[in-house]
Amino acid sequence: MNIGKIITDRRKALGLTQQALAEKLNISFQAVSKWENDSSYPDVTILPKLAATLKVSIDSLLGYPSQSLTEYDERYNAAGYYWGLAPNNLCYEIMHLKPPIKPYKVLDIGCGEGKDAVFLARNGYNVTAFDISEQGLSKARELADHCGVKVDLFKADICDFRLETDFDIIFSSGVFHYIPQEQRSNVIESLKKHTTSNGINVINVFVRKPFIPLPPDIEESELAAGDWKSGELFMYYHDWLFRKNEERIFDCNSSGVPHKHCMDVMIAEKY
Ligand SMILES: C[S@@+](CC[C@H](N)C(=O)[O-])C[C@H]1O[C@@H](n2cnc3c(N)ncnc32)[C@H](O)[C@@H]1O
Repeated sequence: MNIGKIITDRRKALGLTQQALAEKLNISFQAVSKWENDSSYPDVTILPKLAATLKVSIDSLLGYPSQSLTEYDERYNAAGYYWGLAPNNLCYEIMHLKPPIKPYKVLDIGCGEGKDAVFLARNGYNVTAFDISEQGLSKARELADHCGVKVDLFKADICDFRLETDFDIIFSSGVFHYIPQEQRSNVIESLKKHTTSNGINVINVFVRKPFIPLPPDIEESELAAGDWKSGELFMYYHDWLFRKNEERIFDCNSSGVPHKHCMDVMIAEKY
Protein backbone atom coordinates (compact mmCIF):
# COMPACT_ATOMS: atom_id res chain seq x y z
CA MET A 1 0.00 0.00 0.00
CA ASN A 2 1.32 3.49 -0.78
CA ILE A 3 1.58 6.35 1.71
CA GLY A 4 -0.98 8.45 -0.16
CA LYS A 5 -3.62 5.77 0.16
CA ILE A 6 -2.82 5.19 3.84
CA ILE A 7 -3.21 8.93 4.54
CA THR A 8 -6.49 9.07 2.62
CA ASP A 9 -7.91 6.01 4.40
CA ARG A 10 -6.93 7.23 7.88
CA ARG A 11 -8.16 10.77 7.21
CA LYS A 12 -11.53 9.49 6.04
CA ALA A 13 -11.77 7.00 8.92
CA LEU A 14 -11.39 9.94 11.30
CA GLY A 15 -14.00 11.95 9.38
CA LEU A 16 -11.52 14.70 8.42
CA THR A 17 -11.59 16.69 5.19
CA GLN A 18 -8.28 17.49 3.47
CA GLN A 19 -8.74 21.07 4.68
CA ALA A 20 -9.31 19.95 8.30
CA LEU A 21 -6.21 17.75 8.25
CA ALA A 22 -4.17 20.57 6.69
CA GLU A 23 -5.30 22.99 9.43
CA LYS A 24 -4.27 20.55 12.16
CA LEU A 25 -0.83 20.32 10.55
CA ASN A 26 -0.54 24.04 9.76
CA ILE A 27 -0.02 23.42 6.07
CA SER A 28 -2.01 24.07 2.89
CA PHE A 29 -4.74 21.65 1.80
CA GLN A 30 -2.95 21.44 -1.58
CA ALA A 31 -0.02 19.76 0.23
CA VAL A 32 -2.39 17.12 1.66
CA SER A 33 -3.97 16.65 -1.75
CA LYS A 34 -0.53 16.12 -3.34
CA TRP A 35 0.38 13.45 -0.75
CA GLU A 36 -2.88 11.67 -1.35
CA ASN A 37 -2.39 11.78 -5.14
CA ASP A 38 1.15 10.48 -4.74
CA SER A 39 2.58 13.56 -6.43
CA SER A 40 4.70 14.30 -3.34
CA TYR A 41 5.63 12.74 0.00
CA PRO A 42 5.32 14.32 3.46
CA ASP A 43 8.58 15.79 4.73
CA VAL A 44 10.22 13.59 7.39
CA THR A 45 9.99 16.42 9.94
CA ILE A 46 6.17 16.37 9.75
CA LEU A 47 5.83 12.56 10.09
CA PRO A 48 5.49 12.46 13.93
CA LYS A 49 2.75 15.10 13.88
CA LEU A 50 1.02 13.55 10.87
CA ALA A 51 1.09 10.08 12.49
CA ALA A 52 -0.25 11.45 15.80
CA THR A 53 -3.03 13.37 14.03
CA LEU A 54 -4.03 10.30 12.05
CA LYS A 55 -3.71 8.16 15.21
CA VAL A 56 -1.30 5.63 13.70
CA SER A 57 2.33 4.76 14.25
CA ILE A 58 4.93 6.14 11.87
CA ASP A 59 5.66 2.52 10.86
CA SER A 60 2.03 1.97 9.90
CA LEU A 61 1.89 5.32 8.11
CA LEU A 62 4.81 4.20 5.96
CA GLY A 63 3.22 0.80 5.43
CA TYR A 64 5.61 -1.23 7.63
CA PRO A 65 4.26 -3.77 10.10
CA SER A 66 5.91 -3.74 13.53
CA GLN A 67 7.79 -6.68 15.06
CA SER A 68 5.51 -6.84 18.12
CA LEU A 69 2.47 -6.92 15.91
CA THR A 70 2.87 -10.56 14.92
CA GLU A 71 3.90 -11.71 18.40
CA TYR A 72 0.64 -10.53 19.92
CA ASP A 73 -1.59 -10.95 16.89
CA GLU A 74 -0.98 -14.69 17.06
CA ARG A 75 -1.99 -14.85 20.72
CA TYR A 76 -5.05 -12.66 20.21
CA ASN A 77 -6.10 -14.65 17.15
CA ALA A 78 -7.00 -17.64 19.33
CA ALA A 79 -10.52 -18.05 20.66
CA GLY A 80 -11.35 -16.47 24.01
CA TYR A 81 -9.51 -13.70 25.80
CA TYR A 82 -5.78 -14.35 26.19
CA TRP A 83 -5.55 -12.25 29.38
CA GLY A 84 -9.03 -13.18 30.61
CA LEU A 85 -11.71 -10.62 31.33
CA ALA A 86 -11.04 -9.80 34.99
CA PRO A 87 -9.84 -6.20 35.29
CA ASN A 88 -6.39 -5.43 36.63
CA ASN A 89 -6.46 -4.63 40.37
CA LEU A 90 -5.01 -1.25 39.51
CA CYS A 91 -8.38 -0.36 37.93
CA TYR A 92 -9.97 -0.60 41.40
CA GLU A 93 -7.22 1.61 42.78
CA ILE A 94 -7.97 4.13 40.04
CA MET A 95 -11.64 4.06 41.04
CA HIS A 96 -10.68 4.58 44.66
CA LEU A 97 -8.37 7.52 43.96
CA LYS A 98 -10.43 9.12 41.18
CA PRO A 99 -14.01 7.93 41.60
CA PRO A 100 -15.98 8.58 38.42
CA ILE A 101 -17.98 11.47 39.83
CA LYS A 102 -17.24 13.26 36.57
CA PRO A 103 -16.31 11.77 33.18
CA TYR A 104 -12.56 11.61 33.78
CA LYS A 105 -10.55 11.09 30.62
CA VAL A 106 -8.54 7.86 30.73
CA LEU A 107 -5.86 6.68 28.31
CA ASP A 108 -5.02 2.94 28.35
CA ILE A 109 -1.69 2.37 26.59
CA GLY A 110 -1.21 -1.14 25.16
CA CYS A 111 -4.78 -2.07 25.98
CA GLY A 112 -4.50 -5.58 24.46
CA GLU A 113 -7.99 -7.08 24.16
CA GLY A 114 -9.47 -4.20 26.11
CA LYS A 115 -10.51 -5.78 29.43
CA ASP A 116 -9.34 -2.80 31.51
CA ALA A 117 -10.42 -0.10 29.04
CA VAL A 118 -13.91 -1.59 28.80
CA PHE A 119 -14.15 -2.09 32.57
CA LEU A 120 -13.32 1.58 33.17
CA ALA A 121 -15.74 2.72 30.45
CA ARG A 122 -18.50 0.63 32.05
CA ASN A 123 -17.80 2.46 35.27
CA GLY A 124 -18.32 5.88 33.78
CA TYR A 125 -14.87 6.90 32.59
CA ASN A 126 -14.31 8.45 29.19
CA VAL A 127 -11.79 5.97 27.79
CA THR A 128 -9.33 6.17 24.92
CA ALA A 129 -7.07 3.19 24.33
CA PHE A 130 -4.47 2.09 21.84
CA ASP A 131 -2.39 -0.96 21.08
CA ILE A 132 0.01 -2.03 18.40
CA SER A 133 -1.96 -5.21 17.68
CA GLU A 134 -4.88 -4.85 15.28
CA GLN A 135 -6.11 -8.25 16.40
CA GLY A 136 -6.18 -7.15 20.04
CA LEU A 137 -8.03 -3.99 19.06
CA SER A 138 -10.63 -5.90 17.13
CA LYS A 139 -11.30 -8.07 20.23
CA ALA A 140 -11.46 -4.90 22.33
CA ARG A 141 -14.03 -3.41 19.93
CA GLU A 142 -16.13 -6.55 20.17
CA LEU A 143 -15.94 -6.45 23.96
CA ALA A 144 -16.94 -2.79 24.09
CA ASP A 145 -19.87 -3.45 21.75
CA HIS A 146 -20.93 -6.47 23.78
CA CYS A 147 -20.91 -4.39 26.96
CA GLY A 148 -22.66 -1.47 25.26
CA VAL A 149 -19.94 1.09 26.00
CA LYS A 150 -17.95 3.44 23.84
CA VAL A 151 -14.16 3.28 23.92
CA ASP A 152 -12.07 5.30 21.47
CA LEU A 153 -9.76 2.52 20.22
CA PHE A 154 -6.98 2.95 17.70
CA LYS A 155 -3.74 1.41 16.60
CA ALA A 156 -0.49 3.10 17.58
CA ASP A 157 3.01 2.36 18.77
CA ILE A 158 3.86 3.84 22.16
CA CYS A 159 7.37 4.57 20.91
CA ASP A 160 6.39 7.02 18.23
CA PHE A 161 2.87 8.11 19.14
CA ARG A 162 2.72 11.55 20.76
CA LEU A 163 -0.32 12.85 22.59
CA GLU A 164 -2.08 15.99 21.52
CA THR A 165 -4.75 16.18 24.21
CA ASP A 166 -4.59 15.86 27.99
CA PHE A 167 -5.84 12.98 30.14
CA ASP A 168 -6.78 12.79 33.82
CA ILE A 169 -5.61 9.20 34.12
CA ILE A 170 -2.93 7.48 32.05
CA PHE A 171 -2.83 3.74 32.61
CA SER A 172 -0.52 1.10 31.19
CA SER A 173 -0.04 -2.48 32.31
CA GLY A 174 2.59 -4.89 30.96
CA VAL A 175 3.73 -2.65 28.11
CA PHE A 176 6.57 -0.33 29.18
CA HIS A 177 9.17 -3.09 28.87
CA TYR A 178 8.80 -2.68 25.09
CA ILE A 179 10.07 0.91 25.17
CA PRO A 180 13.74 0.98 24.18
CA GLN A 181 16.00 2.53 26.78
CA GLU A 182 16.91 5.57 24.67
CA GLN A 183 13.24 6.46 24.09
CA ARG A 184 11.95 6.12 27.67
CA SER A 185 12.65 9.65 28.76
CA ASN A 186 10.88 11.22 25.72
CA VAL A 187 7.88 8.92 25.90
CA ILE A 188 7.36 9.48 29.62
CA GLU A 189 7.93 13.25 29.40
CA SER A 190 5.15 13.41 26.82
CA LEU A 191 2.79 11.39 29.05
CA LYS A 192 3.57 13.62 32.05
CA LYS A 193 3.06 16.77 30.02
CA HIS A 194 -0.31 15.54 28.78
CA THR A 195 -1.64 14.66 32.23
CA THR A 196 -4.02 17.19 33.76
CA SER A 197 -3.16 18.86 37.05
CA ASN A 198 -3.84 16.36 39.89
CA GLY A 199 -4.15 13.68 37.25
CA ILE A 200 -2.47 10.31 37.78
CA ASN A 201 -0.22 7.95 35.83
CA VAL A 202 -0.76 4.31 36.75
CA ILE A 203 1.98 2.11 35.32
CA ASN A 204 3.66 -1.19 35.92
CA VAL A 205 6.82 -2.50 34.30
CA PHE A 206 8.86 -5.71 34.48
CA VAL A 207 12.29 -5.12 36.00
CA ARG A 208 15.35 -7.34 35.80
CA LYS A 209 16.81 -8.85 38.96
CA PRO A 210 20.11 -10.76 38.95
CA PHE A 211 18.62 -13.53 41.12
CA ILE A 212 15.62 -14.18 38.80
CA PRO A 213 16.41 -16.10 35.58
CA LEU A 214 15.12 -14.70 32.29
CA PRO A 215 11.58 -15.96 31.59
CA PRO A 216 11.57 -18.91 29.14
CA ASP A 217 9.17 -17.13 26.77
CA ILE A 218 10.89 -13.72 26.74
CA GLU A 219 10.26 -11.97 23.44
CA GLU A 220 12.86 -10.58 21.07
CA SER A 221 11.34 -7.10 21.21
CA GLU A 222 11.61 -7.09 25.02
CA LEU A 223 15.26 -8.15 24.91
CA ALA A 224 15.99 -5.55 22.25
CA ALA A 225 14.44 -2.77 24.35
CA GLY A 226 16.93 -3.39 27.18
CA ASP A 227 16.29 -4.17 30.85
CA TRP A 228 14.40 -1.85 33.17
CA LYS A 229 16.25 -1.43 36.44
CA SER A 230 14.57 -1.48 39.84
CA GLY A 231 13.21 1.98 40.58
CA GLU A 232 13.95 3.32 37.08
CA LEU A 233 10.24 4.01 36.46
CA PHE A 234 9.96 5.88 39.77
CA MET A 235 12.95 8.07 38.89
CA TYR A 236 11.14 9.44 35.84
CA TYR A 237 8.38 10.59 38.21
CA HIS A 238 10.60 11.95 41.00
CA ASP A 239 8.86 15.34 40.78
CA TRP A 240 5.32 13.89 41.22
CA LEU A 241 3.61 12.61 44.35
CA PHE A 242 3.70 8.83 44.73
CA ARG A 243 0.38 7.32 45.72
CA LYS A 244 1.97 3.93 45.28
CA ASN A 245 5.45 2.70 44.44
CA GLU A 246 6.20 -0.89 45.15
CA GLU A 247 8.11 -3.82 43.80
CA ARG A 248 6.75 -7.33 43.77
CA ILE A 249 7.90 -10.76 42.69
CA PHE A 250 5.27 -13.14 41.44
CA ASP A 251 4.96 -16.61 39.92
CA CYS A 252 4.00 -17.09 36.28
CA ASN A 253 3.25 -20.13 34.13
CA SER A 254 2.73 -18.34 30.82
CA SER A 255 4.71 -20.80 28.65
CA GLY A 256 3.76 -23.89 30.64
CA VAL A 257 7.13 -23.60 32.45
CA PRO A 258 6.84 -22.14 35.97
CA HIS A 259 8.99 -19.04 36.42
CA LYS A 260 9.07 -15.73 38.27
CA HIS A 261 8.83 -12.07 37.34
CA CYS A 262 9.70 -8.92 39.21
CA MET A 263 7.53 -5.88 38.60
CA ASP A 264 7.61 -2.24 39.70
CA VAL A 265 4.14 -0.78 40.20
CA MET A 266 3.48 2.93 40.41
CA ILE A 267 0.64 5.37 40.88
CA ALA A 268 1.99 8.92 40.66
CA GLU A 269 0.01 12.15 40.89
CA LYS A 270 0.86 15.38 39.08
CA TYR A 271 0.86 17.56 42.16
C1 LIG B 1 1.32 -8.03 28.26
S1 LIG B 1 0.19 -7.39 27.10
C2 LIG B 1 -0.81 -6.38 28.15
C3 LIG B 1 -2.15 -6.08 27.58
C4 LIG B 1 -3.08 -5.30 28.49
N1 LIG B 1 -2.48 -4.07 28.96
C5 LIG B 1 -3.50 -6.17 29.65
O1 LIG B 1 -2.96 -5.99 30.74
O2 LIG B 1 -4.36 -7.01 29.42
C6 LIG B 1 1.20 -6.20 26.26
C7 LIG B 1 0.45 -5.40 25.19
O3 LIG B 1 1.32 -4.38 24.71
C8 LIG B 1 1.10 -4.26 23.32
N2 LIG B 1 2.29 -3.63 22.76
C9 LIG B 1 3.50 -4.18 22.57
N3 LIG B 1 4.35 -3.29 22.05
C10 LIG B 1 3.64 -2.14 21.93
C11 LIG B 1 3.95 -0.85 21.42
N4 LIG B 1 5.17 -0.57 20.97
N5 LIG B 1 2.98 0.11 21.42
C12 LIG B 1 1.73 -0.18 21.86
N6 LIG B 1 1.37 -1.39 22.35
C13 LIG B 1 2.31 -2.35 22.37
C14 LIG B 1 0.87 -5.68 22.85
O4 LIG B 1 0.23 -5.74 21.61
C15 LIG B 1 0.04 -6.22 24.00
O5 LIG B 1 -1.33 -6.06 23.77
